[in-house]
Amino acid sequence: MKKLYIKTFGCQMNENDSEKVYLLLKDEYELTENPLEADLILINTCSVREKPEHKLYSEIGRFKELKKKKPKLIIGAMGCVAQQEGEKLLERFPYLDLVLGTQGFYRIREALEEIAKKGKPAVYTELKEDFKIPLILSNEKSSKRHRVKAYINIMQGCDNFCTYCIVPYVRGREISRPPEEILKEAEELVKKEGVKEITLLGQNVNSYGKKEKDYPDFADLLERLSQIDGLLRIRFTTSHPKDLSEKLMKVIAENPKVCKHIHLPLQAGSNRILKKMNRKYTREEYLEKVERLRELCPEIAITSDIIVGFPGETEEDFLETIDMLERVRFHEVFSFKYSDRPYAVARNFENKVPEEIKEERLKKVHEVQARITKEIYNSYVNKEVEVLVEGISEKDPTKLTGRTTTNVVVNFKSPRLDLEGALVKVVITEAGKHSLKGEYKETLVL
Ligand code: 5AD
Ligand code: SF4
Repeated sequence: MKKLYIKTFGCQMNENDSEKVYLLLKDEYELTENPLEADLILINTCSVREKPEHKLYSEIGRFKELKKKKPKLIIGAMGCVAQQEGEKLLERFPYLDLVLGTQGFYRIREALEEIAKKGKPAVYTELKEDFKIPLILSNEKSSKRHRVKAYINIMQGCDNFCTYCIVPYVRGREISRPPEEILKEAEELVKKEGVKEITLLGQNVNSYGKKEKDYPDFADLLERLSQIDGLLRIRFTTSHPKDLSEKLMKVIAENPKVCKHIHLPLQAGSNRILKKMNRKYTREEYLEKVERLRELCPEIAITSDIIVGFPGETEEDFLETIDMLERVRFHEVFSFKYSDRPYAVARNFENKVPEEIKEERLKKVHEVQARITKEIYNSYVNKEVEVLVEGISEKDPTKLTGRTTTNVVVNFKSPRLDLEGALVKVVITEAGKHSLKGEYKETLVL
C-alpha cells in the first residue's frame, strides 16, 4: 500500500471532501499522519478569508525540499484555493503535480493516471452548473471503522452572492443531491460504521431542494432522515436567515432527533451594512425569526458569524452589531475582520475600514460575546443535560467528552469509560469558557 497524507483547512465541507478523497483512493493508499513518509500529499484549501488562503501557501512551501529529495512524491492542492487559482498555482509552485477544484477532486484517480502517463501536472478546475455530486460509500461489507459522528454533504455551491463572499465563485451554483442518495449514505453510515450523529452540510441548507421539481424541502428531508433506526441525532449547517421557514422551525422544535442548535450567521447588525452585504434581511426580520424560534423551542442554542469592518462600516453601524449580540444572546459567535476576496463585489467598495479599527472592533465583539457565552454556560450549572459520548477526553483521560444537543462540549467524570456512542444524562457542575464540566448520572441509550 502507498501512503497518503491529507492536510485539511477550512470548513466541515472541506473535511468531508477530504474524507471522500480518501475513500476514492483507499484501494491503493492508506492514510498517514506523517508527510515525510507519504507517496501522495494533498492539501485541501480554504479561501473564504485572506488568512486561511495564506496558510495554504506556507503549507505548500514546506514540501519543496521534500520533493527535491523524493522526486516521485506527488503533491496536490485541492479545494477552494485550487479552484480559485487553477493553473496559476503551478507558476507559483512548479513542484506541484495536481490542482483539483471543488468539483474536480472527485476525478482524482483519473488525474493520478494522467500524471503517470504524461509526466506533467494535472489541473481539473471546471465548474459545471449541472454537476452531479457522486455517491461515494465506504463500500465495505462491514466497515472496520467505527465512529460516533459523520458528515453528509446534501448540497454544494451557493446562489446568494453576499458581496463579501468568494464561495459562489469557488463552489459554483447551488446543487442539491437527490434525497435517496442522502438517505442511502446515512443508512450506510449508521449500519456499517455505527454512526450515531449526522451533520448535514451545505452552504445554505435551508434552500435544499428548492431548485428541483420532486425533491422534499429541507424540513421534510430532516423528518425522513430521523426515521433511520439507530441514528440518535441530526445536526445541520449552515442556515441563511432569509430562508429559515416556520416549517423548519417546527421540525427543530418537535423532532426529538433534530438537535436544538442552529448556526444562523447574522454578519452585521446595521440595516445599511446588511443591505450593502446583500444579505436580504433586516435586523428586525432577523430578530423576529429568533423570537419565533425561541417561542417554538425555548431551549434552542443559536450561534452566529459576525464580520467587522465591512467597507463603509461606521462606529454607529458597528454599535448596532454589538446591540444585536446583546439582544439575541448567541451561545457562541465566530467573528472575523472583513478582508477583500477575489471576485467578490465588495472589494470594489469605497471607504475601506483601516486595519486598527477592524482590530479594535473584533476585540470588542470578543469581549462582549465572551461575557454572554459565560453567562449562558453558567446557566447550565446544576442542570441535567443529555450528552452523546464521543470518547475519552483528550485533556483528561479519566473523563469522558461529548456534546449537549445545544452543541456545547461537556467533559465529565463517569464510573465507566467505555461509553463511546452512548447517550447519557450528565449533571453539570461547572462552566468553563469553552466547555462545561459535569458528572455522569445515567445511561439513556447504549
Ligand atoms: N471577510 C471576512 N469574513 C468573511 N466571511 C466570509 N467572507 C468573508 C470576508 N470576505 C465569514 C462570514 C462567513 C464565514 C464562513 O466567514 O462570516 O459566515
Ligand atoms: Fe473555505 Fe468556504 Fe471553501 Fe469551506 S466552502 S473551504 S469555508 S472557502
